[in-house]
Amino acid sequence: MRTQIAAANWKMNLVKEEAEQLMDQLLASAPTLQNNQEVILAIPFPYLTWAQSRLDGLKGYRVAAQNCHHKNAGAYTGEVSAPMLASLGIRDCVLGHSERREYQGEGEALLAEKMDRCLEAGIRPIFCCGEPLSVREAGNQNEFVAAQIRGSLFHLSAEVIAGIVIAYEPIWAIGTGKTATTAQAQEMHASIRQVLAQQYGQAVASQVPILYGGSVKAANAVELFTCPDVDGGLVGGASLNATEFISIVSALS
Ligand code: PGA
Repeated sequence: MRTQIAAANWKMNLVKEEAEQLMDQLLASAPTLQNNQEVILAIPFPYLTWAQSRLDGLKGYRVAAQNCHHKNAGAYTGEVSAPMLASLGIRDCVLGHSERREYQGEGEALLAEKMDRCLEAGIRPIFCCGEPLSVREAGNQNEFVAAQIRGSLFHLSAEVIAGIVIAYEPIWAIGTGKTATTAQAQEMHASIRQVLAQQYGQAVASQVPILYGGSVKAANAVELFTCPDVDGGLVGGASLNATEFISIVSALS
C-alpha cells in the first residue's frame, strides 16, 4: 500500500510566536496516523529543529525543509545545504516548488542536482511539478509535466525513484482558490504514474506517492484524496489554520 501524505507548506509565513501558536493548536488535536500515513510540515529553515523537537514521539509526523542548495558546501552566502539539513536529522525536503521555479529561476537541470544532493544526504525529496494556465489552456499539460519529470528525475535509478515523493501542483490552482477538479487531478496523476512506469516499470511507479497541491482545503480534501492516484496533498494557505489542516489530515483515511 502506498504511503498517504498530508504535507503542510508554510512558505515564508509566521513569525516564531505565530508558529508556536499554530504548533500548539496542531498538537492539541493531532490525529493518530495509520502505519501508511504521514504528516509533513514543510516550514522555514529557522524553525526546523524546534518543530522537530515538538513533533518528537508523534508517529508519522515529520518536518521538511522547503528547499536546499545544489552544492554540498562552499562560498554560497545565505544558502543551506542538504548535508546541513541531514546533520540536524531532517529527512524530507521540498524541491522545485513553482514559486522557486518562477522567482529563483530554478529549472530542470538545477533541480536534478538538488535531487542528487538530497538523496546523497539521505533526505527524501518531495519533487514539485505542474503547469501554468497557458499550458493547461492549450491542452499541453501532460507533456509539460512529463518534461519536468524527465528533466529532473530520469537520471535516477529505479530503486531511488521508488523512494521519492512527487507533488503535482497546477500553478493556476496555487493560492487562487481555484482547485483542479477531481477528474483533472486524477487524470494528471495517472499520467505522471504512466510516465514513471514507462521508464521504471509499473512496480516502481505504483510505489511513488503523488500528492496534489493547489487550493486544497478541508472542503475538498476528501474528494481529492479519494481519487485512486492521488495519495494526499501539499497544502499551502489552509495549512496555516490548525482546524483546516487537521481536517485535511483526517481526510487521508
Ligand atoms: P495553496 O498552496 O494550498 O495555498 O494553493 C499550495 C502550495 O503552493 O504548495
